[in-house]
Amino acid sequence: MSDIQNFLQTRRSVPLKQMLEPAPSDTQLQEILQIAARVPDHGRMCPWYFIIIKGEQRAELGQKLKDIYIAQNPQAEDKEISLEEGRFMRAPLCVAVVSRIKKGKHPQWEQILSAGAVCMNLCHAANAHGFATNWLTEWCAYDTEFKKVLGVDEPDNIAGFIYIGTSAEKPAERERPELNEISSVWSNGVILATGDKYGNTLEEWPKTGFSIKKNPLK
Ligand SMILES: Cc1cc2nc3c(=O)[nH]c(=O)nc-3n(C[C@H](O)[C@H](O)[C@H](O)COP(=O)(O)O)c2cc1C
Repeated sequence: MSDIQNFLQTRRSVPLKQMLEPAPSDTQLQEILQIAARVPDHGRMCPWYFIIIKGEQRAELGQKLKDIYIAQNPQAEDKEISLEEGRFMRAPLCVAVVSRIKKGKHPQWEQILSAGAVCMNLCHAANAHGFATNWLTEWCAYDTEFKKVLGVDEPDNIAGFIYIGTSAEKPAERERPELNEISSVWSNGVILATGDKYGNTLEEWPKTGFSIKKNPLK
């Protein structure tokens, strides 16, 4: 098996409680983000951008997240409050990948998918540089007040917070879907039975119609 096959076949997220220093250097991070941005993107719309959360700003952002949490949960217990305060301290670096749907003839859905591809590519790129990753959203990715603090425009959506660090241990394998339960060879009239997939419709599509302010990669 080639190194790249082995890399792809054994990839795993690392739990944040296992995530340690060091983070990628600034140079490594630039390389990682360049790779992350090298994704299929229908119409070359660049419908995503990065926000890097590192160093002391992790604690500063945590303070602001804590304030938002307390305002929304006045009865919050100390344990919950310190979780919010320390949310971005759980790894030495975090990159928010933000999906921005742009005006144009290319479907919104495809622009969102491209942002997901950026998240995965970012994980792969950081992993290839020897770092551990975990792609999380958690409640704060969906919170309007927190998005403001982060500098995310209201109509944009956080596709993921990619936490990056170093792991001393290799995470254990986890169960994966059986291939024959998620794939079939097309044959006229045959529909793959995939359990409860129906009944799940997208509750809300991101809004569109705003102007493009900047190209975040320039
Ligand atoms: C869009 C997205 C959001 C996610 N958000 C969370 C989250 O908020 N909390 C969580 O525990 N796992 C979350 N996960 C799952 C983890 O990223 C991780 O994939 C999983 O725990 C382990 O799978 P892996 O080892 O195959 O990467 C999310 C995954 C995706 C794709």
